[in-house]
Amino acid sequence: MAEHPAYPVGLRLSGRHVVVLGGGQVAQRRLPALIAAGADIVLVSPEATPSVEAMAEAGEITWQQRSYTEGDLAEAWYALIATNDPGANAQASAEAERHRVWCVRSDDADRATAWTPATGHSEGVTVAVLTTEARGRDPRHTAAIRDAVVAGLRDGTLVAPHHRTRTPGVALVGGGPGDPDLITVRGRRLLAEADVVIADRLGPRDLLAELPPHVEVIDAAKIPYGRYMAQEAINNALIEHAKQGKSVVRLKGGDPFVFGRGMEEVRALAEAGIPCTVVPGISSSISVPGAAGIPVTHRGVAHEFTVVSGHVAPDDERSLVDWPSLARLTGTLVILMGVDKIGKIAETLVAHGRSPKTPVALVQEGTTAAQRRVDATLATVADAVRDEDVRPPAVIVIGEVVRVGPGPAA
Ligand SMILES: C[S@@+](CC[C@H](N)C(=O)[O-])C[C@H]1O[C@@H](n2cnc3c(N)ncnc32)[C@H](O)[C@@H]1O
Repeated sequence: MAEHPAYPVGLRLSGRHVVVLGGGQVAQRRLPALIAAGADIVLVSPEATPSVEAMAEAGEITWQQRSYTEGDLAEAWYALIATNDPGANAQASAEAERHRVWCVRSDDADRATAWTPATGHSEGVTVAVLTTEARGRDPRHTAAIRDAVVAGLRDGTLVAPHHRTRTPGVALVGGGPGDPDLITVRGRRLLAEADVVIADRLGPRDLLAELPPHVEVIDAAKIPYGRYMAQEAINNALIEHAKQGKSVVRLKGGDPFVFGRGMEEVRALAEAGIPCTVVPGISSSISVPGAAGIPVTHRGVAHEFTVVSGHVAPDDERSLVDWPSLARLTGTLVILMGVDKIGKIAETLVAHGRSPKTPVALVQEGTTAAQRRVDATLATVADAVRDEDVRPPAVIVIGEVVRVGPGPAA
């Protein structure tokens, strides 16, 4: 059987009877794809792993809790034989052959009539990799090829130029806190497909250097705004480029909707009739403390964390923040854009009841090569910022969580 290469095919199993024999690790690995394919799955096995059992409890498969018996495969379209009894496997395999049921065998690929490829998915495409011969099967090699192809498609380094589906209009992409590896897979793919990228100062700027030369990269901070506000000028630039039929990525730091003015851009694009896709990003409010060894919550220490903008001082009439209430909370406060105002903020928190000894950490340029952490307390933080010359961008964490990790060197 193994003299010829396998014939690759995609089975459409929706609503079709599929039998799985054995409820161990092999079934656990294979069942999710069969469930996703909509197969009507009967598992025959005296035992099952907890994950397989959970699939039965959720109604995703029907579990007959017994051993294989002759006749189980009679009505099947497809079978997976994976019991730990070689005799039962051989018997079931012979039955499958008699009933002309394509069947995979976990214990003997040579005798199986079907092989499971290493598969992966990328935006509407399934990549399936098979070795040519049973004897030469090297599952790690096929998995590695699958991974390389899927990763290439996802991050855009492998582009199928004539067939790729481009996202029309503008993609508002959260780029994460700065480390180029911390953008999402979808964000990176859209970036690789872009004709124009309008980028903020914060976020994964290293990724811009990787873009091909034909991609126009525009620094959002440098868009001239004349009689408009800066944000209006950015909105106009997005609309103009999209109207020219270009794929536009608006690359933002962190998540577009965490102090990112993302919705202002979404609304402007909607008013102009331009389709817009929003891709979430990893916000600096959680990831930057984490990168410096500070969890924003910790069991027995903090049951809440509050993310606050510190760009206007507590006594400023434009402030929308209820600082006295924040002072009364016992959990973690995470302050963005607060380096300049931290003195006033700390004073206000102490005036309304937070202990001056409350620990504070400032994490500057988190997740980048320049990351640094400065520790203080509410009483000392203003001096620490001045003495240590802490500069934006920095995330400020206030609360006992600052002390639960291994410390500033982490
Ligand atoms: C306009 S807000 C944008 C926040 C962003 N949308 C997010 O979700 O992370 C900018 C502030 O985020 C924080 N920030 C963003 N990236 C940072 C980084 N890599 N290190 C430290 N702080 C950062 C700083 O407080 C900075 O002033």
